[in-house]
Amino acid sequence: YRMPTLYIQDTQHEFYPGKKSYATGISTLQHHGSYLGPTIKVKRGDIVDFSVVNLRSEPVTNHWHGLHIPGRLDGGPHQMIHPGETWNISMPIHQEAATCWYHDHTCGKTAEQVYFGHAGMFIIEDKNSVLLGLPDIYGINDIPIILQDKLFDAAGQQIYDLKPNRVFTGDTYCINGVANPFISVMPGLVRFRILNASNARPYNLFFSDTIFYVIASDGGFLNQPEQVEKILVLPGERVEIIVDFSKFRGGMLDMKAVTLPSDPFDPDYITVTIAKIVVNSYQLKETILANSLRHSEIQRDFITNTLSDISRSFELMVDDELSKMSINNKEFDMKFINEEVKIDIPEIWEIKSLKGGHNFHVHGCSFLVLELYGEEPDNTLKGWKDTIALPKRIGEMNEGEYHTCKILVKFNYNTYRKEYMKHIESRSDINYHIPYMYHCHVLEHEDKGMMGQFIVY
Ligand code: C2O
Ligand code: CU
Ligand code: CU
Repeated sequence: YRMPTLYIQDTQHEFYPGKKSYATGISTLQHHGSYLGPTIKVKRGDIVDFSVVNLRSEPVTNHWHGLHIPGRLDGGPHQMIHPGETWNISMPIHQEAATCWYHDHTCGKTAEQVYFGHAGMFIIEDKNSVLLGLPDIYGINDIPIILQDKLFDAAGQQIYDLKPNRVFTGDTYCINGVANPFISVMPGLVRFRILNASNARPYNLFFSDTIFYVIASDGGFLNQPEQVEKILVLPGERVEIIVDFSKFRGGMLDMKAVTLPSDPFDPDYITVTIAKIVVNSYQLKETILANSLRHSEIQRDFITNTLSDISRSFELMVDDELSKMSINNKEFDMKFINEEVKIDIPEIWEIKSLKGGHNFHVHGCSFLVLELYGEEPDNTLKGWKDTIALPKRIGEMNEGEYHTCKILVKFNYNTYRKEYMKHIESRSDINYHIPYMYHCHVLEHEDKGMMGQFIVY
């Protein structure tokens, strides 16, 4: 069925009450931009038609991060929507319930355009997600949390201030476009769908006085809820959690994070408050958390025992001045296909980095993390992922030792080289088959060239 048209447009938005700032908005109404975009909700099995209209004066693209869709629908850097143009697509939804997102992916401009607001949440539901009986009243006990750090001037204008060879980090934390937010919740179980839409900042999230449960990662539910005290979320990653606010009825607590002061390469961590949580005394609906979250469990052993060899290796590289970013010593080149991958055949990809401080994302699939830094990953990383953090291990690594991660990938949709070459020659038809990207989701690293592209055939 047809979704309302999405208009990407310049707008004014109040991050602070009464102070208007320039922002990019995506809205289903023309000339009525709200900051960020509407949450899109679809069901597995749907075929959804979108029209994305660019009302801005700069080219944009609209990438569907986390969706398993053909390359020509993916919205990567090749699928530019020029000012005044409309991108019409028809998207089949075949994957399981998950919290995904959409955002700009313009070559060299992604960081800035996402920062100013070209991003939104994309929720997929399926039979299982409905039958689980999780908190499901959107905005009340099923709450989207789009996390961003920003810099503001005295007038409340958001600024994208990038020091040479650094990544962007701000000193003000925003949720859904509100600076220093308050979140009002019910005194029972509440589900937060957390998306780190920051350019570069990692958050190790926790609450001032309670543990919580992780129920889903990027691409769907974990096998069962995992009780944690903290959860690390890097740019591009999503995590769904359940928090029990019963014992805080009528009270308040803080959502906090351990994060880095200014740059992912800096060594010291700081603790910051992200939001104040106000717990109401009235509860709308009682829910309980199921012990098992899936119809059919993710059988990691079964899948991994059938495979052993590394098929491809990707080294995330940064030079000493932090000025040159590449993968396998090759900076992103729109006209160069880095990899050719066979459809439907699982592969093991090894991602490595000397210093860490990156997070690797692959388009067009969900993958399983087999090994992180030589060990079995934490339970919260055993579900479907599309972005994996390679955090810097301060003081724990030897000189010259790699931070490594092994993932199991498989692609279900193809892209065709022939069609792609045709596309490069004439940009007239934006519906040609088009390659997928893999890249570091620290957006300034991606824009600087820590990205590659692959076709699936
Ligand atoms: Cu979230 Cu290539 O993107
Ligand atoms: Cu993506
Ligand atoms: Cu990086």
